[in-house]
Amino acid sequence: MHQDIDRILEDARKFSAKTKEEVEQFRIKHLGKKGVVADLFKRFKELPVDQKKEVGQKINQLKQFVSEKIELMLAETQDKKAVESQMDLTLPGPPLQLGSRHPISIVRNQIIDIFGRLGYTISEGPEIEDDWHVFSALNFPPEHPARDMQDTFFIEKDPDVLLRTHTSSVQVRVMEKEEPPIRTISPGRVFRNEAISARAHCIFHQVEGLYIDENVSFADLKQTLLYFAREMFGQAVEIRLRPSYFPFTEPSAEMDISCQICGGKGCNVCKYTGWLEILGCGMVDPNVLEFCHIDSNKYTGFAFGMGIERVAMLKYQVRDLRLYFENDVRFLKQFQAAY
Ligand code: PHE
Repeated sequence: MHQDIDRILEDARKFSAKTKEEVEQFRIKHLGKKGVVADLFKRFKELPVDQKKEVGQKINQLKQFVSEKIELMLAETQDKKAVESQMDLTLPGPPLQLGSRHPISIVRNQIIDIFGRLGYTISEGPEIEDDWHVFSALNFPPEHPARDMQDTFFIEKDPDVLLRTHTSSVQVRVMEKEEPPIRTISPGRVFRNEAISARAHCIFHQVEGLYIDENVSFADLKQTLLYFAREMFGQAVEIRLRPSYFPFTEPSAEMDISCQICGGKGCNVCKYTGWLEILGCGMVDPNVLEFCHIDSNKYTGFAFGMGIERVAMLKYQVRDLRLYFENDVRFLKQFQAAY
């Protein structure tokens, strides 16, 4: 009998219940009228007198252990129920950390949006280009020093495989393919072999624009750029055009906007001039139109091109261009995407 009691005790020790029902079954099995303990007491009666004391104690210990265990298990299952009933499963989960849009994307989208309102479509082209689309069709004669203005990365020994230095190459592709009227912008990544500093990088982003139709004039260009500047920097901004040189436009100009930091009074950002340079522009050179099979007697057009990093720098007053490429989340988190 000793062994039987030990085995029952051992089993009871190992037992665990998940629900109240399981505890009840355990109770009936052990303490019920026909239960294990009742059965042991029945057998106890038949024992010789000299064994009764010891076995009796053992059965009582077992009974006590089982009773205590039942109470413990009941308390536990009730606790679980209580926790579950306090849990509000309809509450939203912890918020997911969403990423933010890169400032270059925000500004690019805004530029696209502004020109979209003027009816400009978006054109894209390859980053790996050939000499024709980046230079020759844009009126850069071979060996012309203007090619040095844009330090080019050549990919292979073949000088005809290169990374585009501006997205004017996309405009050549559009002009070759489409008939005027053409009104398109080409946003994209460009590459120049420049030493990396706060003000220059070997990879940056441009948006270039092209408008070709009959009777397009410099006044149209100026009005378009004024509209852009006001939409981008606010209605109070002023623009000024300075004569410049690009092989593919004639006349050419560079556009400045009134300094956004000092309001034109002069500060260290605008180097006390009150103006900040923002883009290059001009009337498309008739040579370029002819290279792209567009009748330069019938059509005229204007083009402009700007660096997105530069516009973003002026908009957000970021002084170091390298920050745009380092992808430090502390920097990136600061920009609110309206676009
Ligand atoms: N392609 C020129 C550049 O990358 C910008 C530009 C475009 C200037 C169109 C004039 C007209 O510097």
